[in-house]
Amino acid sequence: MLRDAIRVLVANWDGSYTVPSRRLYPHQWSWDSAFIAIGHARWAPRRARSELLSLFGAQWRDGRVPHIVFNPKVPDGAYFPGPDFWQTRAPSGTATSGIIQPPVHALAAWKTHLAEPDPAFLRRIYPRLVAQQEFLRTARRSPEGLISIVHPWESGMDNSPAWDLPLQGVQERPTGFVRRDIDTVNAEERPTDRDYERYVALAKAYRDSGYRRPGAFHIEDPLFNTAYGVAEQALAKIAEVCGLDPEPHEREAAAISAAMVEHLYDGDLFQSRDVNTGHLIHSASAAGLTPLMLTALPGEIADTLIATALDRFALKDGVLPSFSPSAPEFDSVRYWRGPSWINLCWLVWQGLKDRRPDLAGPLADGMLTMVARSGFREYFDPFTLRGHGCWDFSWSAALLLDVVA
Ligand code: DGY
Repeated sequence: MLRDAIRVLVANWDGSYTVPSRRLYPHQWSWDSAFIAIGHARWAPRRARSELLSLFGAQWRDGRVPHIVFNPKVPDGAYFPGPDFWQTRAPSGTATSGIIQPPVHALAAWKTHLAEPDPAFLRRIYPRLVAQQEFLRTARRSPEGLISIVHPWESGMDNSPAWDLPLQGVQERPTGFVRRDIDTVNAEERPTDRDYERYVALAKAYRDSGYRRPGAFHIEDPLFNTAYGVAEQALAKIAEVCGLDPEPHEREAAAISAAMVEHLYDGDLFQSRDVNTGHLIHSASAAGLTPLMLTALPGEIADTLIATALDRFALKDGVLPSFSPSAPEFDSVRYWRGPSWINLCWLVWQGLKDRRPDLAGPLADGMLTMVARSGFREYFDPFTLRGHGCWDFSWSAALLLDVVA
């Protein structure tokens, strides 16, 4: 299986970074590259460093790291929405999107360094990682001290049932675009056409504001905020190696954790909050379990989250669904509405490794079982373990290498 994982990563390598999937996602994706770097670190640390440096080569002047960096060699129209839609470029000249994804990159940089210590790499990437966080603090910080996202694609969990309610406010029905995703993957396993109309309407509105103004979708998401806090935890360690003061990062990690507990915790699970209405969006998304990764999370809250994971997400069986199967919106095959994803399992696994090794073990086994049963698929039915979405998906291969290391 390990040799197969490396084979997938080699086949998807494009010279300096890795595509998530040759046909479905033929460019560089931001949070994919972070997870992929974590896997490369286990067998080819030089590739891990290249993966991250190549992504940050397309960082914008304001610090944002775009969610897609387009490969100019890939024919126009191979992916929608492509460069013609986003109409923007990084200072490097490369066409990119203008939205972002969860900032899991500092963690990836730290893990890359742990696999093969390289202070020069850390010194090079540290200011870029700090700029990425600075962008979030300046452009996306709410009065509650939380970081917000402006598009479901920014959450990484595009069609999570948590977005059903906020998306109802998007009335426009743009026409004249052609989805390319369903050329490769069964439509039942992807977001619906109505979802896509809303994604396109939101992305257009944000683009037309010069990628500045949040619109109808303006959300504080627990996974995104966890990633932001975990980035500060990692930056504290990186700063130390670079001979810099870790304390501001430690303080920021504690502050985001406290703000999340105050504003996103419902007593059972972390939830998203709609900035436009000020209300929590009650859902059963496994994103709400990821704050287990925050070292400043109070122990009793971690215990409650674990109880919720056992009770509503069948954590003990080792196959964590992206949405609770006991919720009516659960769908075992449709993208982020229930299937089990290796990256989400990996994030929760990270949060459990120190707290509850007895539960982290089965979760690691669950990831191995899914892949052994169905290959490096994009996502898996949490009951049948059948694979769905694309084949030879890079982060499924990469994170597996990390799990077994
Ligand atoms: C897709 O194309 O499905 C991605 O999730 C958006 O970046």
